[in-house]
Amino acid sequence: MKNTPHAYFSQTLLDWYQRHKRALPWRETTNPYLIWLSEVILQQTRVNQGLPYYLRFAENYPTVRDLAAAPEDEVLRLWQGLGYYSRARNMHHTAKQIVQEYDGVFPDRYEELLKLRGVGSYTAAAIASFAFREQVAVLDGNVFRVLARVFGISDDIAAPASRKVFQQLANELIPADAPDTFNQAVMEFGAIQCTPVMPDCLFCPLQQSCFAFTHGLVQELPVKSKAKAARPRFFHYIVFEYGGQYYLRKRMSGDIWEGLYDFYLHESDSKTLEPHALLHELNEAGIAVQEAQLQLPHKDYKHVLSHQKITARFYLIRLDSRLREEVLQEARLALYTPDKIEALPKPILINSYLKDEKILVNL
Ligand code: ADE
Repeated sequence: MKNTPHAYFSQTLLDWYQRHKRALPWRETTNPYLIWLSEVILQQTRVNQGLPYYLRFAENYPTVRDLAAAPEDEVLRLWQGLGYYSRARNMHHTAKQIVQEYDGVFPDRYEELLKLRGVGSYTAAAIASFAFREQVAVLDGNVFRVLARVFGISDDIAAPASRKVFQQLANELIPADAPDTFNQAVMEFGAIQCTPVMPDCLFCPLQQSCFAFTHGLVQELPVKSKAKAARPRFFHYIVFEYGGQYYLRKRMSGDIWEGLYDFYLHESDSKTLEPHALLHELNEAGIAVQEAQLQLPHKDYKHVLSHQKITARFYLIRLDSRLREEVLQEARLALYTPDKIEALPKPILINSYLKDEKILVNL
């Protein structure tokens, strides 16, 4: 081992990792498809929450060909609850591309991996290093935090320009003979030792060489500017029921939740919606509804996305006849049994409503 601060950092981290690493299934494989799957899921969520999703995907789609051949609804349904559904759609697209353009064989170099849809520098570096032992450093939130603290870097980690600073340092740190283990080790160290709040500095092997610890700046580093406040949106969902079945529609592109299923939607600037105004709107749309058929909402459903804060209310309308064909086409609605609804991919707040109302019971 060379006796430089960089070599000391890397070796200490590798030693720590051997003693503290968690046994995780994607660490037992060099299969680039399974590594890709795990990394896309782990960008979305923490290890504990991501693990059951990973196991379900790996079981349902053991190879990239299986994923490529799956219907999109099914892929989105398996992803349900992870959020950021464009990741699942991109992953599905990329699986098809790998089958068609690469004959089902994953590209094996960082630069080539970067060309795939949905594969950014983080995912490309993870696959290239874990599957093919290429010497490219991963940068994620954990890595930013560890490097900012140990090396005393005060660049704002939320600013895209800071990436270069961290990437250069990480590239200098990553050893040629263990790029895969080093990348796992930094992330693991950030996840369980050098945590965002209450890091375990007392028992940290890097304590004496850590800039933040020795300067009393552990709470100050990393520097991260605040995100803009999320935009509030108010969704008024009209749930049309007919004979124990419900009208849903598949969401189109151009907004959140593309490809997921929800109900007839009236979006407004206000949390409240006047029942008379609603009935008037529906009548204008060719849906004749009387006030007595309308059940008003009794609960707010909230969902916070990275840039939006959704509040949803549900208005149940029990129909005594089916909606007319023109109405269905215009609003892109179709009638589904509860069993069929269960199998459709849905936003979590739609799922919560269906469970609360006991429309879906086997969950
Ligand atoms: N977070 C992102 N990638 C990870 C990995 N490979 N292991 C554990 N946590 C992770």
